[in-house]
Amino acid sequence: MPDRPRVVRVTDIIAKKSRGEKIAMLTAYDAAFARLLDCAGVDILLVGDSLGMAVLGYSTTIPVTLEAMIHHTQAVVRGTRHALVVADLPFLTYQVSVAEALRNAARLLQEGGAAAVKLEGGRPVLPVVERLVEVGIPVMGHLGLLPQSVHQLGGYRRQATRAEDAGRLLEDARALEAAGAFAVVLESIPAEVARAATAALRIPTIGIGAGPDCDGQVLVSHDLLGLSCEHRPPFAKEYAQLGEQVLAAVRCYIEEVRSGRFPLAETGEASAGSSGPAA
Ligand code: KIV
Repeated sequence: MPDRPRVVRVTDIIAKKSRGEKIAMLTAYDAAFARLLDCAGVDILLVGDSLGMAVLGYSTTIPVTLEAMIHHTQAVVRGTRHALVVADLPFLTYQVSVAEALRNAARLLQEGGAAAVKLEGGRPVLPVVERLVEVGIPVMGHLGLLPQSVHQLGGYRRQATRAEDAGRLLEDARALEAAGAFAVVLESIPAEVARAATAALRIPTIGIGAGPDCDGQVLVSHDLLGLSCEHRPPFAKEYAQLGEQVLAAVRCYIEEVRSGRFPLAETGEASAGSSGPAA
């Protein structure tokens, strides 16, 4: 039997919290990136609806469709051997009715191949969370800054900064846990609120701009790799500047093509890239 890495399950993610092990989650939108992130050992690959901004060129996540999410989830699943693949339910695919939410979530699993879905919000989405969990669809919650509500929030602002909002967020987090969510993302909230939620819940919290005390962290991969020129939030740490490397490489290529230095005439130098002709 080939040496296959064990697939990460939602039960492994919950168990990590009880063992005090931190969870590393990143976004992925295609097979090539999924393969690299998975190979590096990330626990969860989120096919986030940040797809809209990171890849599709929109200024918000709102135009992202279920069809687009299914298409990109399929690609991520093809590139993944180990990580848990979670797919976002995009805007208005889970708010109209519980029945519609169930059908749409099922498509992310049946057609997309995801192992779980993520949706935004607290009390208003509890009936949906309960029903999805009831039929066996694992659900990750998302509280704090809800990008699908950006227009109502008045921009990408830090949330739960006032005591009453922090209290409401804690109630929502407890309610999501009671409804059966297996984890909850906490986005752009004060570290002390995230710490309180993490202490109050048995399920893991995954923070983004929520301080160091969550059970795990998530970043948009394009932010981490230095590939987001326009939308990188202030809390995202850039671990590499791949955008600059891409620019330098492509400028070099253009210069060599224009000057006739590529390809070399005498060897017909073959491309080492994946689209080069087979040997
Ligand atoms: O869509 C996304 O990438 C997300 C993360 C920022 C958590 O929801």
